[in-house]
Amino acid sequence: MFPIHRNRRLRTTDAMRALVRETVLTPNDFMFPMFIAEGQNVEIPIPSMPGIFRRSVDLTVKEVKELWSLGVKAVNIYVKVSDNLKDNTGKEAWNPDGLMQQAIKAIKDAVPGMVVMPDVALDPYSIYGHDGIVENGEILNDPTVDALTRMSLSHADAGADFVAPSDMMDGRVLAIRKALEENGHHNVGIMSYSAKYASSFYGPFRDALDSAPGFGDKKTYQMDYANRIEAIKEALHDVEEGADIVMVKPGIAYLDIVREVKNSVNVPVSVYQVSGEYAMVKAAAEKGWLDHDRIMLEQLHCIKRAGADIISTYFAKEAAILLNK
Ligand code: PBG
Repeated sequence: MFPIHRNRRLRTTDAMRALVRETVLTPNDFMFPMFIAEGQNVEIPIPSMPGIFRRSVDLTVKEVKELWSLGVKAVNIYVKVSDNLKDNTGKEAWNPDGLMQQAIKAIKDAVPGMVVMPDVALDPYSIYGHDGIVENGEILNDPTVDALTRMSLSHADAGADFVAPSDMMDGRVLAIRKALEENGHHNVGIMSYSAKYASSFYGPFRDALDSAPGFGDKKTYQMDYANRIEAIKEALHDVEEGADIVMVKPGIAYLDIVREVKNSVNVPVSVYQVSGEYAMVKAAAEKGWLDHDRIMLEQLHCIKRAGADIISTYFAKEAAILLNK
C-alpha cells in the first residue's frame, strides 16, 4: 500500500486543525512587564521598545485595569528611581514609601485580583548598575542576599502577591522564603529567575530603566549562554530552596532550556520573552519585512509549546486583544 501514512488528513480544514491543536494560547498565560516612573501623569516612550512606556503610578493603574479587562492577570513591576536615590547598599529598595511600594499598593487597591510580582534586584537602585553590592569591582553575594531579603519583605508588606528575584545571587530564594515565613507572609510566593543568562537581548530594558552596568558585565552572576546543564542545576536548587515558579530567560533563543527545565521540575515554569526579542520583531515589522501579528502569535505559541506555563511578554496586551477576537 502507498503511502502508508497520510498525515495531511489532520490538516485539511481549519476545524480539523483546531480539533487536533496541541497548544492553545490564552491571555491568562501572560504576565505583562511594566516600567514605573516617578511623578504624576507621566508617560515616557522607550525608543527601542515601540509601544512600551515608562508610566507614573496613576497611569500605570489605568493600564492595569485595561489589562485585567483583557484577561491578563499578572504584572511584573520594574521601577526607575532618580539618581539621587541610588547608592551601593540599595537601601531605597526597602523604603516603605518607595516608588515600588507605592506602585504595588496602588495596583492592588485598584485591581485587587491582579497578581503583582515586583522585581527583586538592586540594579535600579545601584550607582554601579549592578544587581548587587559592589566591593573592589566584585559583586558580593551574601551581603546582597541580605539586601534582597529586606527588599522582598517590604514588597510583601506593601501587598505583593509574589516576589520575583532576578539578581542571580546564590541562596537568595531560601533566605527570602525564610524571612517571608518568619514575618507572617506565608502566602507570598517566589518566582525565581532561575536560569537567567548573561544576554545581549536585555539592551532595550536597560535603556528603559537607565540601568546598564557602569563597569564590566554581569557574567559573574548571570549564566553563560553556552551552558545547558547548569540551567537545570539552578532550577532544581531554587525549587529545593522554596521557589513556587521558576523562570527561564530570555525566551525564543533558549527554548531548548525551557523544555529541559520543564521536564526536570514539578513547579510551573515561566519564560521571559525579553526586551531585545520584542525590539527585533517591532523593528522588522516597521520595515515591512515581517508580519507583526503573525510573528508575535507564532513566537508566543512556540514558547508555550516548548514548556512555558506562563509567559512574561511585552506583547501581552496586543496578543490578548488578538486572541479575544
Ligand atoms: C535586572 C533585570 C534585567 C531584566 C529584567 N531584570 C536586566 C539585566 O539583567 O541586566 C531584563 C528584561 C528584559 O530585557 O526585558 N535585574
